[in-house]
Amino acid sequence: MSNIHAIILAAGKGSRMNSSKPKVLQTLSDNTLLGHVLNQAKAVSQKIHVVYGFGGDQVKQAINDDSINWVEQAQQLGTGHAVMQAAPHIKDDSIALVLYADVPLIQAATLKQLIEAASSTGIALLSVVLDNPKGYGRIIRSNNLIQAIVEHKDASAQQLEICEVNTGIMAVNTQLLKNYLQGLDVNNAQGELYLTDIIKAAVDDNKTIASVVATNEFEVAGVNDKIQLAELERVFQQRQAAQYMAQGLSLKDPARFDCRGKLSFGKDCEIDINNLVEGQVSLGNNTTIAANCSIKDSKIGDNVTILANCVIENAVIDNGASVGPFARIRPQTNIGENAKIGNFVEVKKSTVGKGSKISHLSYVGDSTIGTDVNIGAGVITCNYDGVNKHQTIIGDGAFIGSDSQLIAPVTIGKNATIGAGSTITKDAPDQQLSFSRAKQISLKNWQRPTKK
Ligand code: UD1
Ligand code: MG
Repeated sequence: MSNIHAIILAAGKGSRMNSSKPKVLQTLSDNTLLGHVLNQAKAVSQKIHVVYGFGGDQVKQAINDDSINWVEQAQQLGTGHAVMQAAPHIKDDSIALVLYADVPLIQAATLKQLIEAASSTGIALLSVVLDNPKGYGRIIRSNNLIQAIVEHKDASAQQLEICEVNTGIMAVNTQLLKNYLQGLDVNNAQGELYLTDIIKAAVDDNKTIASVVATNEFEVAGVNDKIQLAELERVFQQRQAAQYMAQGLSLKDPARFDCRGKLSFGKDCEIDINNLVEGQVSLGNNTTIAANCSIKDSKIGDNVTILANCVIENAVIDNGASVGPFARIRPQTNIGENAKIGNFVEVKKSTVGKGSKISHLSYVGDSTIGTDVNIGAGVITCNYDGVNKHQTIIGDGAFIGSDSQLIAPVTIGKNATIGAGSTITKDAPDQQLSFSRAKQISLKNWQRPTKK
């Protein structure tokens, strides 16, 4: 379909959000409300017009998309008035698709149906049937054909019984839209220019109003406050989790899995409860993630085991590695094949070679660690002198005794051994044992102090 212009209404302040940000910039998953709508609109239209009002500069800056035509609605005089601001920017021989920046879960597939319907009749409306239609414009039908929309505040007691309501989303031939917009007036309970009044105008013009009825009420649900925002976040997350499970991901409990970004995975991956994935994360085959981990922008290979309570960001973890429990893998870290990072270990901007182990209570930063290195409990690379960061290099097969400090810049040679409890300030040669600690002495006649 070509020549589709989307008009996204985004002028509302959203006072009920109690936020300094405009409503349409509130976030759902990893995107703003407006951003979600823009993505779907882009999938079905050639041009997008956003009608903005409150916090316009903030909105434009945050969205930062030059392909959008930003149209200001300085005063909010109703949905019809909002569409009027965009209409002059749209050629008559197109279809205008009206969307709302605070209806974030709308799907392109539904919009396609609506546009197709409008292509044949000139005007099509997206409605939904609600158990509780309170507050919405009611769809008035006669012989099953739509005759008008009556706003809740303007409806009679009998009309209020109707459960089919207007979602507000519609597709209209632009020439017809312009004609009908000219005829709008403010003779209604709210004294506003109602977009919905174009329906009656079209009926009076002998047009048939095509309709698509949304099957999922959340797809057309608006967000006015933080409670509704959280509700739609859950809907979004469950929908996404269902997609991942359909593609073969095992989620122990989809209600306790959140992904704000994109997760890709191979076969037989399993994710336990309370996990948060952000940005772009990929898992190979047969990788498991235990409970309570937070993983962001990372590439994790095959047969990797991430144990409980790990925080991993911007890292690469190679096949067969094991991380955690309680490990923190910080940006620019590469954990090599079959390497093991144990509890209470923090690794930053470092490469850990194949088969190397850092099993307990360590800080490793700005380091290059070879293959089959064993780093004992409590080892610290002292990478920071208070001003600059320095490198630690550890050769293949080295053994670093527990509770040692490696004062960077420093190089530990291949197969070198560092005696436990050493403070290493100079390079340690290959193959040799280096240690730096006072000789142990025992005082035969020493007495413990006694209480005075
Ligand atoms: C509107 C519809 C109603 C429908 C409901 C669905 C009209 C007259 N009524 O009612 O039939 O059931 O949506 O949610 O259209 N906006 C502007 N500029 C304005 C006015 C509104 O940008 O001057 C934006 C708002 O920010 C909001 C949206 O349009 O995102 C809807 O406006 P709102 O006043 O909330 O319409 P409703 O009364 O909910
Ligand atoms: Mg209103």
